[in-house]
Amino acid sequence: MKTIETKIFQGDSKEILKQLDDYSIDLIVTSPPYADRRKQTYGGIKPEKYVDWFLPISKELLRVLKPTGTFILNIKEKAENGERSTYVIELILALREQGWFWTEEFIWHKKNSYPGKWPNRFRDSWERLLQFNKEKKFDMYQDEVKIPVGNWVKKRLNNLSNVDRERDNAKNGSGFGKNVSNWVGRETVYPTNVLYLATECNNKQHSATFPSSLPEWFIKLFTKEHDWILDPFVGSGTTLEVARRMKRNSIGIDIVPEYVEMIKAKIYEKEFVLFEPKSDYKTLNKENKWSTHKKD
Ligand SMILES: C[S@@+](CC[C@H](N)C(=O)[O-])C[C@H]1O[C@@H](n2cnc3c(N)ncnc32)[C@H](O)[C@@H]1O
Repeated sequence: MKTIETKIFQGDSKEILKQLDDYSIDLIVTSPPYADRRKQTYGGIKPEKYVDWFLPISKELLRVLKPTGTFILNIKEKAENGERSTYVIELILALREQGWFWTEEFIWHKKNSYPGKWPNRFRDSWERLLQFNKEKKFDMYQDEVKIPVGNWVKKRLNNLSNVDRERDNAKNGSGFGKNVSNWVGRETVYPTNVLYLATECNNKQHSATFPSSLPEWFIKLFTKEHDWILDPFVGSGTTLEVARRMKRNSIGIDIVPEYVEMIKAKIYEKEFVLFEPKSDYKTLNKENKWSTHKKD
């Protein structure tokens, strides 16, 4: 039985990432500080400086990611003085220049977003989950995220017309068409690129956590057991906890020492619960040193 490793580093990702090997990571999933947010806790980078701040970090991410790997970036621009900031759009263009493929944009639809109303807009209920790759062909396990087909389909399929049994081409000549009878007998279907996830309000002692269902969905889709996951802005450690639970190795980096200590304490506490008793296992002590233990 192979050991699952979880490594935690404290410091600026721009520097710490230099310690990681080339082509060593299968999935990067992270939520960096958004521009102009949380100045009291960890800085607050100005929107006009954001691309310059991010590019040295993403250069290292490009180096450590395997050619088959994926980078998921959770980010959202805010609106100020009646206008949305454009820094995320500028970042996407700059990342393409740096050598990344912008493969996809998933939308995280926040099921329980903050209430509110403004004179010129409605409340913000979604965030971007940008997918970047090094190559156009990458590892993706689509069957792992299939969802139940839903009850509507049973009702609909009990009443198939003749048109439903053959390909029904769209009347507008678009070339699209559907054959409804293809759904018969299907229990699950592929999801869309909109993820409906509730934000989590449990006490994580961090002001900007994402829900564990977020890294979990991408870990399922892009990795298998014993692959390596990296979160260079790990915060309260959500990505590491989920990766461990899913038997993936992981590396987390955060600049705030208190967050790093909090993660170490959490993982140290849970160690004996998370590991199967009949296997070799590693423990992380409070000095951030690992030791391997033999189990019989
Ligand atoms: C949005 S939070 C991440 C929250 C995380 N996804 C979670 O669920 O807890 C961003 C984190 O990036 C960290 N951070 C900011 N600048 C950093 C840098 N240059 N290097 C490493 N971490 C940094 C902050 O301390 C903060 O914890």
